[in-house]
Amino acid sequence: MAPVAAESSDDLRTLIQDHATLLSEQLQAHQLNTFSPDARKTIRHFSPAETAKLLEITEGYLRQVALEFPDLSTVSGLKKRSYSVEAIHSLRKRLDAGARGGKRYLPYRTHGEDLQVITVMNFKGGSGKTTSAAHLAQHLALRGYRILAIDLDPQASLSALFGHQSTVDIGPNETLYGAIRYDSKARPIAEIVRATYIPDLHLIPGNLELMLFEHETPHALLHRQQDDTLFFARISQALAPIQNLYDVVVIDCPPQLGFLTMAALTAATSVLITVHPQMLDVMSMNQFLTMTGELLDSISEVGASTQYNWMKYLITRFEPSDGPQNQMVAFLRSIFGGHVLNHPMLKSTAISDAGLTNQTIYEVERNQFTRSTYDRALESMENVNSEIEGFIRKVWGRQP
Ligand SMILES: Nc1ncnc2c1ncn2[C@@H]1O[C@H](COP(=O)(O)OP(=O)(O)O)[C@@H](O)[C@H]1O
Ligand SMILES: [Mg+2]
Repeated sequence: MAPVAAESSDDLRTLIQDHATLLSEQLQAHQLNTFSPDARKTIRHFSPAETAKLLEITEGYLRQVALEFPDLSTVSGLKKRSYSVEAIHSLRKRLDAGARGGKRYLPYRTHGEDLQVITVMNFKGGSGKTTSAAHLAQHLALRGYRILAIDLDPQASLSALFGHQSTVDIGPNETLYGAIRYDSKARPIAEIVRATYIPDLHLIPGNLELMLFEHETPHALLHRQQDDTLFFARISQALAPIQNLYDVVVIDCPPQLGFLTMAALTAATSVLITVHPQMLDVMSMNQFLTMTGELLDSISEVGASTQYNWMKYLITRFEPSDGPQNQMVAFLRSIFGGHVLNHPMLKSTAISDAGLTNQTIYEVERNQFTRSTYDRALESMENVNSEIEGFIRKVWGRQP
């Protein structure tokens, strides 16, 4: 019997290895076609109405300011002004420099306002974690905050959305693993952070290497030295040296409750749980909550803090015309009350289609879509992100 088993497992091994090689070659070729590695990702320009809203000024005032800084606005094909993200960033800085009467255009946090670390989690894949994390990070950066987005998922979908392909341009020790690993190859987090095409939005990409943290943690626990930092505290420890550079850190978690997720949870000041309002997803979330509760018990016993500024449920891919989904949302609201965000994220082909080319709704051009489809998706996303921005501001004691 034994030789047969050995032989078949050997076969399976080569088969799986061959398939993995084949598939990754093909996928890489496909990705290179869709998005060549040296093609820099860009973001669309913003209309005067959108720009004014982002800067919290009137369109009239924007016109006036733009006249003072003609270098900052660009003219699109339609002879209509539009603004690049760099232009919006410069306008914001100049407005802030000239501001009077305590008005601020740069919303950087000040003394007494702590860094906000938001983890986006749920162990159900497809619940919208990555989509929510990417759009939240971009929204906050467009609003002028200094943002660090961290991809903690070995599958690296967030990195892909930001134009970094895990197989092509994320090398060894270039993920958060590099800063939280247990051996002497650990490096300072500042060396790992990358800039993106949006000013004040930085990224720590992910790739399969992150899995090593899951594999190495049990060993590290067994052979622990007196002053080794335990697994759950390693992300907060890694973030400490750069914490003054950012206002908000957004962490996109893997779809599992492993050591990485626990470390993200410990580093977090707030938690966003994404949930697709369907029975199977909600049942899975039930297990997720039960397990997370137990894990929080264990890590609080060894000294982790379980104090959070807020914990919210975000309803994702919501279809208002779907009866059972509405019932499920009502059910969740009746149980969790104010912990469920007022605004759900609507299901929209504008989001999923943009995702196909590794783009967010903020990046794609409106004319690629049916206008109403695009506008509805953007409005829904803005409502969600503005609501979350409100919670952040409230923690800092500012007006929401
Ligand atoms: N609001 C939405 N409307 C339509 N499709 C969405 C929406 N949110 C997410 N998706 C799509 O659903 C899939 C899973 O979303 P994703 O954010 O990757 O989930 P997770 O990170 O939880 O696995 C992706 O293909 C994404 O484009
Ligand atoms: Mg994901």
